[in-house]
Order: sequence, then C-alpha cells, then structure tokens
Amino acid sequence: MVVTIAVFASGSGSNFARLVEVSQQEGWRVPVSVLICDRPGATVLERAERLGVPQHAFAPRTFSDKAAYEAAVRDVLRRYDVSWLVLAGYMRLIGPTLLDKFAGRIVNIHPSLLPSFPGKDAIGQALQHGVKVTGVTVHYVDAGMDTGPIIAQRAVSVAETDSRETLTAKIQAVEHELYPEVIRRLIEETQ
Ligand code: GRF
Repeated sequence: MVVTIAVFASGSGSNFARLVEVSQQEGWRVPVSVLICDRPGATVLERAERLGVPQHAFAPRTFSDKAAYEAAVRDVLRRYDVSWLVLAGYMRLIGPTLLDKFAGRIVNIHPSLLPSFPGKDAIGQALQHGVKVTGVTVHYVDAGMDTGPIIAQRAVSVAETDSRETLTAKIQAVEHELYPEVIRRLIEETQ
C-alpha cells in the first residue's frame, strides 16, 4: 500500500522545503506528496511550486466551522494516500476531525525546549527571559498548544550578543537537520 506524508505550513516554508529535499535525496519510501496551507499567498506555496509538490491552499474562514474546514482537508489527504501529517509552521490547532483520523501520526516542530515557551514567538520569549540555552522540540500533536508527547529535542546556546535574527538563524539550522532525521526514523520504525 502506498502511504505518503502531507506537510502543513502557513508561512515561509523553509522546513517544508528541507523535508522535501532530504526525502527526495534519500529516496524515502514514504514521500512528501502534498502541501496543505491555510494562508493563500504564503511564501511556502511558491516553494512548493518550485519543488513540484502539489499544493492545496485553504481559506479556513470561508468554511462554516473548523470541522467543515478539516473535513475538506481530510478529503484532499485521502486523494494523496496520506498517513502522516507533518506540521511545519502551521499556525493553527488541529481539531478532532483530523486528530481522530490520524491519531499518533501527527508531528510538529517548535522552536524551543518544550514545555518552555509554547505558543507564538518562542524565540522572542526565550530572549525576553534571558535564557542561556533554548532549542528545538519535535513532538506528537494532541489537542493542546505544543503539548503532545516529546519525540526529540536539541539544545541551542544563546550568546550574549545574539539578536532575534541570529538566534532564529541558529535555531532554524538545527530544525533543518533535526526534523528530517526524526521523520525518517518515525516512518522507518512504522513501515
Ligand atoms: C519554525 O521555526 C517552526 O519551529 C515553527 O514555525 C517555524 C516555521 O518556519 N513551528 P518555516 O516556515 O519552516 O521557515
């Protein structure tokens, strides 16, 4: 049976691009088959175009409610034989319609060492608190905001001289290594 990965993203899509590139270079048996985006016009859509990955951009506000939006997403996922949802900067909580269907197969990446600094602007929160170490967390997704079981973490040192830009660059470099590693391992373990 063919199974594939859908990446969900709302923004720039650097993690999406990295996942596609690594999965193609390494010839993953479970390929990235489709991008789901909830922000028409987001940069990630241009990246999908360049990489030749089919994309579906939804405007959630045009649906009657979250269940209706997620039912439409679920219909697209069925067409691509998707069995893993990989969230990469998807700025929306996953609701019961998708959580029930893909239980244990929805993964997210967050730019902090959870449970520190969940939610928006984790990098800004870390700088504001003056922490000396922050990092990256990959975790399973549940109904909460960045609360599901942790799969992997990697630390990033914060230097006195770090600005938002330099710390973001350090964290993203770690994300781009860690996320493909973890997703590769998960799909190998479950095939
Ligand atoms: C990443 O920092 C990720 O950890 C967070 O959103 C950001 C997405 O960046 N969830 P990009 O769109 O992949 O460049």
